[in-house]
Amino acid sequence: MRDQVSVLFTEEQIARRVAELGEEISRSFGSREICVLGLMKGSLVFMADLIRRIPLDLTVHLVRVTSQREQAAGRILTEIVYSTSVPLEGKDVLLVDDIVDTGITLSYLLAHIHEHAPASLRVCALVDKPEARKIDVHPDWTAFRVHEPMADRFLVGYGLDWMERFRGLPFIGTIPRPAPR
Ligand code: IMP
Ligand code: MG
Repeated sequence: MRDQVSVLFTEEQIARRVAELGEEISRSFGSREICVLGLMKGSLVFMADLIRRIPLDLTVHLVRVTSQREQAAGRILTEIVYSTSVPLEGKDVLLVDDIVDTGITLSYLLAHIHEHAPASLRVCALVDKPEARKIDVHPDWTAFRVHEPMADRFLVGYGLDWMERFRGLPFIGTIPRPAPR
């Protein structure tokens, strides 16, 4: 399987971008404690690296969203199947996302988090595919922007999966876009 993956962003490129993002985010939050909320499972590897590049007080939590679109073609339904019991009220929340594609998942999640009245809510995404957007959402920080025709390929590795595979690759690679099921 792994030999079908072509490298898009190397370990070194990722490490450099994560370090830059860590600095920008740290500067932006100043002395405030950050409540980091990682979107499972795709952002786990990214979040693990990113939090070690933010030398501020922070707490780490996880949230899980299941997109039914992956199971039922044509059906657009996004459902939060697991959310943390962390009280977000009054917190400065940094949501760490893996890929912003149509934006449906992120906009759903942002609306849900806003209901919990955080003091602020910002988003750091590993990959942004801006041309695929169906709902207008913009991450505050993005490690990599992927444009056409590359956005037509499916990204895997560094936490990103195809059918739960490839998450352990240390780089971000692409495979030909799997046929819609
Ligand atoms: P959106 O709701 O269309 O923005 O989809 C975002 C979610 O779809 C991400 O959190 C990923 O789980 C998944 N996704 C979209 N594109 C890719 C990809 O190229 N590789 C792996 N997962 C993807
Ligand atoms: Mg996924």
